[in-house]
Amino acid sequence: MAADLVIRLRNIRKSYGTGNARTEVLQGVSLDVARGEIVAMVGQSGSGKSTLLNIIGGLDTADEGTVEVLDHDYASASERELAALRNGDVGFIFQSFNLLDHLTCLGNVVLPAAFAPGQPTGVEERGRAVLDRVGLAEFVDRRPGELSGGQKQRVAIARAMFHEPSLLLCDEPTGNLDTETGRQVIEFFSELNENDGVTLLIVTHEERVSTAATRVVRIEDGVIIEGSALIDDEADEADEADEADEADEADEADEAVEADERPKKKASAK
Ligand SMILES: Nc1ncnc2c1ncn2[C@@H]1O[C@H](COP(=O)(O)OP(=O)(O)O)[C@@H](O)[C@H]1O
Ligand SMILES: [Mg+2]
Repeated sequence: MAADLVIRLRNIRKSYGTGNARTEVLQGVSLDVARGEIVAMVGQSGSGKSTLLNIIGGLDTADEGTVEVLDHDYASASERELAALRNGDVGFIFQSFNLLDHLTCLGNVVLPAAFAPGQPTGVEERGRAVLDRVGLAEFVDRRPGELSGGQKQRVAIARAMFHEPSLLLCDEPTGNLDTETGRQVIEFFSELNENDGVTLLIVTHEERVSTAATRVVRIEDGVIIEGSALIDDEADEADEADEADEADEADEADEAVEADERPKKKASAK
């Protein structure tokens, strides 16, 4: 995986159900996302956006294909490694906020610390700091039920930021917000991107998100039809050339080896 790539997907396939009920949700998706990008993923309802995002986040698994995120190849990563990734370098934001109503805002934000190995220190202070950063310093002890939609989403963003992720995966993050509140959330994402170097992949229906993005990826019926931006394709090209021309086999094999041997650098844009 090239050092500046945060996400590298190749030929991802995913289907649900069996027999007549079988749905081919993703039909060979390839995508590269470089560090520092804000990628908006658009497409009609049912086109496979959430499925793809969940696969990238390790919440779901692909039937076929390569998933590499922040230098972790999911095919060879252990369950423990994936869990650490989900609770650390990769943050999630969902349309429905997914806050726990019986916890305070602070309780929700520091929840990821409960799953961290060891005894993390300064948890409460850090929780307060991220809530302050999203403008909710006065709401630390409130429960989500007392907040507006926009405030809830900011708590969810604070929760995602708690572990200083280098990649944020957002599934229709403004879907339940009014226009102005949605705009503020998008502005905050831009700020996170600029100031903290966070890479964002945002699934959205909304035009205003696309305008804040550095790139728009369009998905239709489980296939990316625009914006996949494959920039790390030497090994794949070698594969294709192999099929096309067996005579050059030795050369292509050399290229593939070179591609494999490129230095692997641990991601850390924090
Ligand atoms: N867990 C599941 N079981 C069965 N079908 C599913 C499941 N998740 C998604 N699907 C189906 O996969 C297709 C794509 O869903 P999804 O990825 O949620 O699309 P989008 O987020 O673009 O609206 C839909 O037809 C949906 O019904
Ligand atoms: Mg969806």
